[in-house]
Amino acid sequence: MNVTLLGGGMITLDQLLPSLYQLQRLGRIGTIQVCSIRQDSLDRLAEAPALRRAFPGQSFIPRLESYEGVLKELPPGELVVVALPDQLHCGAVRAAIAAGQHVLCVKPLVLTVEETRVIEREARDAGMLVAIEYHKRFDDRSLMAREAYRAGRFGEFKLGTASLLEKWYYRHSNFQNWFTLDATDAFTYVGCHYVDLVAFITGLTPVEVSLYGIKDRFPNGVEGWLWTDARIIWSNGACLNVQNALGFPDAAPGSNTQGMRLYCSDGERGGWIDHSDQYRGLAWCAVKASEGQPLYSEPSPDYFQYVDRGGVGMEPVGYGYRSVEYAVARALEIKDLPLEKRRELLKTWDEAGILATPANSAYNAAVIEAARQSLARGGVPVRCP
Ligand SMILES: NC(=O)c1ccc[n+]([C@@H]2O[C@H](COP(=O)([O-])OP(=O)(O)OC[C@H]3O[C@@H](n4cnc5c(N)ncnc54)[C@H](O)[C@@H]3O)[C@@H](O)[C@H]2O)c1
Repeated sequence: MNVTLLGGGMITLDQLLPSLYQLQRLGRIGTIQVCSIRQDSLDRLAEAPALRRAFPGQSFIPRLESYEGVLKELPPGELVVVALPDQLHCGAVRAAIAAGQHVLCVKPLVLTVEETRVIEREARDAGMLVAIEYHKRFDDRSLMAREAYRAGRFGEFKLGTASLLEKWYYRHSNFQNWFTLDATDAFTYVGCHYVDLVAFITGLTPVEVSLYGIKDRFPNGVEGWLWTDARIIWSNGACLNVQNALGFPDAAPGSNTQGMRLYCSDGERGGWIDHSDQYRGLAWCAVKASEGQPLYSEPSPDYFQYVDRGGVGMEPVGYGYRSVEYAVARALEIKDLPLEKRRELLKTWDEAGILATPANSAYNAAVIEAARQSLARGGVPVRCP
């Protein structure tokens, strides 16, 4: 199975392409094409020192054009990975399905419930996999919490607080070109991870959102909602607060700050789950600065790292890799089956709920849709559609 990656930006460099290179090295996938409308993003991927060191001799086929024509050329039954700006996901995923492709799309899949439902219907009719890359689900701590919560060990979720603030330097990236007030905001961009995790762990559904945002400027003068505070009410009345920004100091340790704390109760005693998702128990102070890292840092060994396991180059490890590997394995499992069998298998994955799909995670689009309306009205509570 050959793979076509749409978008050659930051997430492609940091996680998707190295994960696909590793699967190519293992013989699970064939060629990899990367499609981008920016020559500089293709050059950056081709020359990235980390990729060259980890995967000597491996390369991708560059396609400097918009994705539409590339999709039309593909033979059916391959895999398309969508890593385009948020607002282009819907059109790209639908075009991939129409071209007979299985799809792995970065989060958020789309920005409205209607768009999710359309994709769900089109994918089901065509018997094509659409997986959404919520990689925090493949962090073992999330799977442990889900298992223990669903076994009733914490009682019921009542109050929670979560945050994910990316570093200030993100403002200097290509985000300046698409992270506009009308298109997205800090919550839509990364807050959705924690909404998804609470649903993934507890099985509860979000029902109401209020999102307050603060506008700020990118270096090119473009304005964006770069600081947000969200309050999400759940189907049992529980309340989750999520803070997001592109504003964590560059000199601070770790590549961002993030984590989640859930307070629960069975009516007789309190339960508690606490994820520190940024500080993973490793801290070091270097004598030489490297790739923009401050001398003191707290690198996460768990999301995505390259390690030397004695073979050629380096191997990617972590839940970022496992998440891509899992979706690729599902695409390989389904690709040669007849239509009815594909539909049956897709239904079992929807029901299992481990892989995020349009059918089992439409609540993410509902939250984003309500959040965008709330944001435009100064943070008033809006019911999820
Ligand atoms: N934690 C996460 O899960 C995570 C992290 C980062 C980004 N993302 C998501 O990944 C997506 C991309 O983010 P990024 O940080 O890589 O953005 P980016 O701005 O760095 O890259 C976007 C890429 O898309 C390409 N592109 C734009 N329009 C195109 C078109 N019509 N045809 C082909 N290529 C086109 C650009 O050339 C660029 O290479 C976003 O949806 C973002 O929310 C997810």
